[in-house]
Amino acid sequence: MRSSYEKLLATIALLSAVTDVSAQTNSTTVGSGPSAAGPTWEQTDYDSSPPVYPSPNATGQGWQAAFQQASNFVSQLTLEEKAQLVTGAPGPCVGNIGPIYRLGFDGLCLQDGPLAIREATYASVFPAGLTVAASFDRDLARTRGVDMAQEFKGKGAHVALGPVAGPLGRSGYGGRGWEGFSPDPFLTGELFAETIEGMQSAGIQACAKHYIGNEQETQRNPSVTKAGETIEAVSSNVDDRTMHELYLWPFQNAVKSGVASVMCSYNRINGSYGCQNSKTLNGLLKDELGFQGYVMSDWEATHSGYPAADAGLDMDMPGGIGFVTQLPTYFGPNITAAVNNGTLAEDRLDDMCRRIMSPYFLLQQNSASYPRVDASSSGLNFFPEANYAFNYTLGPANVDVRDDHAQAIRELGAAGTVLLKNLNNTLPLKTPSNIGIFGNDAGEPTDGLYFDGDGDLGNVGFEFGVLPSGGGSGTGRFTYVVSPLEAIKNKVNSYNPKALVQYVLNNTLVNQASGYSILAPVPPEVCIVFLKTWATEGYDRPSLLVDWNGTALVETVAKSCPNTVVVTHSGGLNVMPFADNPNVTAILAAHYPGEQVGNSLVDLLWGDVNPSGKLPYTIAYNESDYSFAPIENSTALLTTTDPNAWQSNFEERLLIDYRHFDYFDEPVQYEFGYGLSYTTFSMSNLAVTATGSGYTALPAKQAIAPGGNPALWDVLYTATVTVSNTGSVAGAAVPQLYLGLPQPVNEDYTPVKVLRGFEKITLQPGASQTVTFSLTRRDISYWDRYTQQWTIGTSAIGVMAGYSSREIWLNTTVTPLSGSSGSGSGYGSGSASMAPPGYSNKTSSAGMSMPASMSSGMSTVVSGSMIPASATVPASYMSGSSSMMASMSATTTVPAAYSATTAASPSGHGPGAPGCSDVPGPWQHAGNNNWGHGGPPTQSGWA
Ligand code: BGC
Repeated sequence: MRSSYEKLLATIALLSAVTDVSAQTNSTTVGSGPSAAGPTWEQTDYDSSPPVYPSPNATGQGWQAAFQQASNFVSQLTLEEKAQLVTGAPGPCVGNIGPIYRLGFDGLCLQDGPLAIREATYASVFPAGLTVAASFDRDLARTRGVDMAQEFKGKGAHVALGPVAGPLGRSGYGGRGWEGFSPDPFLTGELFAETIEGMQSAGIQACAKHYIGNEQETQRNPSVTKAGETIEAVSSNVDDRTMHELYLWPFQNAVKSGVASVMCSYNRINGSYGCQNSKTLNGLLKDELGFQGYVMSDWEATHSGYPAADAGLDMDMPGGIGFVTQLPTYFGPNITAAVNNGTLAEDRLDDMCRRIMSPYFLLQQNSASYPRVDASSSGLNFFPEANYAFNYTLGPANVDVRDDHAQAIRELGAAGTVLLKNLNNTLPLKTPSNIGIFGNDAGEPTDGLYFDGDGDLGNVGFEFGVLPSGGGSGTGRFTYVVSPLEAIKNKVNSYNPKALVQYVLNNTLVNQASGYSILAPVPPEVCIVFLKTWATEGYDRPSLLVDWNGTALVETVAKSCPNTVVVTHSGGLNVMPFADNPNVTAILAAHYPGEQVGNSLVDLLWGDVNPSGKLPYTIAYNESDYSFAPIENSTALLTTTDPNAWQSNFEERLLIDYRHFDYFDEPVQYEFGYGLSYTTFSMSNLAVTATGSGYTALPAKQAIAPGGNPALWDVLYTATVTVSNTGSVAGAAVPQLYLGLPQPVNEDYTPVKVLRGFEKITLQPGASQTVTFSLTRRDISYWDRYTQQWTIGTSAIGVMAGYSSREIWLNTTVTPLSGSSGSGSGYGSGSASMAPPGYSNKTSSAGMSMPASMSSGMSTVVSGSMIPASATVPASYMSGSSSMMASMSATTTVPAAYSATTAASPSGHGPGAPGCSDVPGPWQHAGNNNWGHGGPPTQSGWA
């Protein structure tokens, strides 16, 4: 039986992305990004992807023994079996690789998703990636990974389709931002890696998705006009430096962590589809990052047969072009035919198979005791059993895999909730005996416990009931939800069974003012307003405000209730026009905390847990403040007949989220990294120590390993600070380390500061602890698009330690290339009032201190000491001798077979077809002269 969500998926995939396209009409088509100081955005620089061929063969680095087992296995396969191994098939899981019983292989079961095993009964629903990000807690991230993986394994799955780092979160409107972590690539990268390592340590293959540039849902897939013409999916047009420093960054962490698989995305990247983009797959992922696992397509993101394989795709999912049927397929028999007629090298196919089988052996999924697929899974997925092409061996049905995970879920739900405002110590609550509860987010979900994002929920969601998760394939099937109302009643009952918990859960009723008057006596000692914001796959958010007239709800309640506490459950950032209302005494951003949503919150409200969540994004004042990185959409686009019309230009380049607000010195309501506690912390003694000497701008040339050049991961500096709990209760602090990297020549938009360290530590009142941050070579480098190298700039790096991106307590500088290392000496013992020259204090909108260099925007950056006076590009950078350069040369890359005309490729998207620009041919851009910086005349890759 197919669920309605799955029917929707099939509809989307088969018919078009009409659902996607029609979802949005709110945004502009024109990037309104920074212009005065920045380079011109020339569409022609980004409308093609360079061809990178051949696809690099895995060598098994990092998992040699498993690779050997995989090689032995593959050497015993027939050509047809190899084709089967790389092609999805109808079966009991959301993705299935058929068994090859003669070799003892039961096949592979792939299941969603990033916060739970979705296609399952009796499984837990964990906090979303967004909540993990807001926890800033590596240990809890890892524990969640382990716990989730145990559940996947208990259900007989081999591959978990998560975690998510694409979307990264370029736009707060993005419908799937909550599935991932944070728009900050460092924070995402660290927690992505913890999750992956946690999952794989428990024997499940992780799948890092969606690779790459999958930053909007609108037109994520091709659509078909009424006249039958295909309109290609949106193209995320990204420059090379931004690709490396933002979007690729967390995937590099994932590869370093040994992630088993990567899911290529629906969208196009610089004109070429994510699952046949040889630059991103062969070039960036397999060549530059040394990825040893396999690339699987997102469901129906494959648009060709052998060309996709040659471009780096290893596994086609779900296999059938018709989604629920095995045939026709781009892979399967067409792979066999392509090998037989010489258009696809069997070597490539062998590499695909070895890549797929290595993690299977590595994680000992071949063990006889590995659980079989839960028989209940069949009924929860979308393939009719009549379509199964194999006899799958299933295990028992409805195995309960939840164990005691609820406790960790409750803990993480609280850890990822951010206390934004707390006037007069409103929180924690004492023992109020008259509490008013308002809002449709407080009670039990009334539309069932599975938010599958089908047509009924659409981009609106359900009206009544708490929102512990978003919708679509990233959701989970809840077995229960502890609502806030239920948890509050339980709590109140524990200290005063006679206390009043009065509630009105209908926003409309309260907004009409009659709702509040139902309560008596009034005002309650505290009013708690529950707000929610729906987000789901398939739609971008129509607004950054809370849903269901929640903003008006707060104002209405606060008018009558002088002690109004606001709680939001949201799939991302919300602008909060009520934030400065004096009757709104406290605000908690509770994100998507999973099944224990009510308990996690009550723990914070009554102070059993001290809030320690920090914002993993910035809350500005107005929706329009975010127009620098718009979702691409317009009425004209929705009716276009131009197949190539959908172009999303990432014109803001590196300046997303706090990087934008800091660079342009814009005030914000609550900044990235911010979050209150019931105690207070101070910070002292910043010291930065070089771990070596004689540092060079470029990393030593070492053989590529998973994660790229190993030298990029060398720790070049450690920074330490002393963190002290100066309040009266125990609590967890999150000291954060930001770097102000030098402005490279011939480049623009280097952010004022970037996060490069964070730790969460719990301290008793009066206690202090030294926290150490490690700074790798990559952390202190920028991506040089001319040389294709991570490069250390030639001037000083600002090192800033504090409690948010705008609450910097201490700072110093280091200058790696002069051999000198800074230390805290002179600044160490003080607060921001002892800041060094150039860092004089300014009070931010949040009432906290920040260095002037961070608040004065670009002028300071450009004219200040962070800019090399006369930096030049060394001649050696231009030698083009690296393998990367070689593989990208226009003359070296095209496999002979590629030009064969006899190949079986049912695709309308083969070489030369619209939207498939990474075909062999001239690709070099016209240089960067349009940038007006007089840079070197040639460049590798995108401008
Ligand atoms: C989503 C993936 C998901 C897959 C299988 C796709 O629509 O983009 O994230 O894993 O479906 O459900």
